[in-house]
Amino acid sequence: MNRITSFCDAEVWEGELPPSREILLEKVQEVEGLVCLLTDKIDAELMSSSPNLRVISNYAAGFDNIDVTEATKRGIVIGNTPEVLTETTADFTFALMMAAARRIVEGERNVRAGLWKTWGPMTLLGQDVHGATLGIIGLGRIGTAVARRAKGFGMKVLYYSHRRAQEIEDDLGVEFVELDRLLGESDFITIHVNLTSETHHLISEEQLRKMKRTCVLVNTSRGPVVDTMALYNALREQTIAFAALDVTEPEPLPADHLLLTLENVIVTPHIASASVTTRTKMALMAADNLIAGLKGEMPSHVVNPEAMKSGSSS
Ligand code: DGY
Repeated sequence: MNRITSFCDAEVWEGELPPSREILLEKVQEVEGLVCLLTDKIDAELMSSSPNLRVISNYAAGFDNIDVTEATKRGIVIGNTPEVLTETTADFTFALMMAAARRIVEGERNVRAGLWKTWGPMTLLGQDVHGATLGIIGLGRIGTAVARRAKGFGMKVLYYSHRRAQEIEDDLGVEFVELDRLLGESDFITIHVNLTSETHHLISEEQLRKMKRTCVLVNTSRGPVVDTMALYNALREQTIAFAALDVTEPEPLPADHLLLTLENVIVTPHIASASVTTRTKMALMAADNLIAGLKGEMPSHVVNPEAMKSGSSS
């Protein structure tokens, strides 16, 4: 905030919950720049309500909350906050995978409920992570950082991505496979793709059916990449063993959601990047992107550099 207010006037939405659509549309009328969260839908209607808008600075790496095509058409540049959250998100992905594999959440719940009566040879048996096969869907920055951790755990790593990453294959010894093979051979599957029309419900009934019965599915990307009802059915019928989700559809997931009636799922509230250091770096990057855009310069992390050229802010 200091960085921003030493450069320009700023109005801050202080509410814990996002502004209502109505308020958001009203507040953006006069602004030239906007810092927004992934909970704010930035679409053509909003851009039309904000005729002077020149820069949208998203406090997130993902930008599926923004209509990029529309912004580009209008010459509105979009900044985001990639890179700084890569390792933190990969740490959390691994934490979820370990928690699911070793039934940590269930164990902790049992202790609090007074169910820890003795040490038992069969108590809360889980799955080994070391030596298992990990399938990574989407080998971008975060997927690669997860692969690096997996190699440290002696895992075999398969990946499926829209393009092959030969350098990473050579460097980390990961293997590119078609999605079906990844689904069929992996003990753990973790998703690291952007949410687009192509990846919406990428993991649905058909894909879940191809997974091993012992498979643990981890998602720290975006909720709608997985079809929630199909996942619920697979977990309930135990055609897969477990899911560990930091993102869901819908989000937030209501406490009475069907998924939460199951024991073989853990859900965290979209906190994979939530370390003090990383969120601070994201904030500074979002401020810098905003200021660059207001100055008419290219933000250092830009989603649509071509918007600068089209430059037809209406
Ligand atoms: C992102 O940045 O896209 C994450 O989902 C939140 O940090």
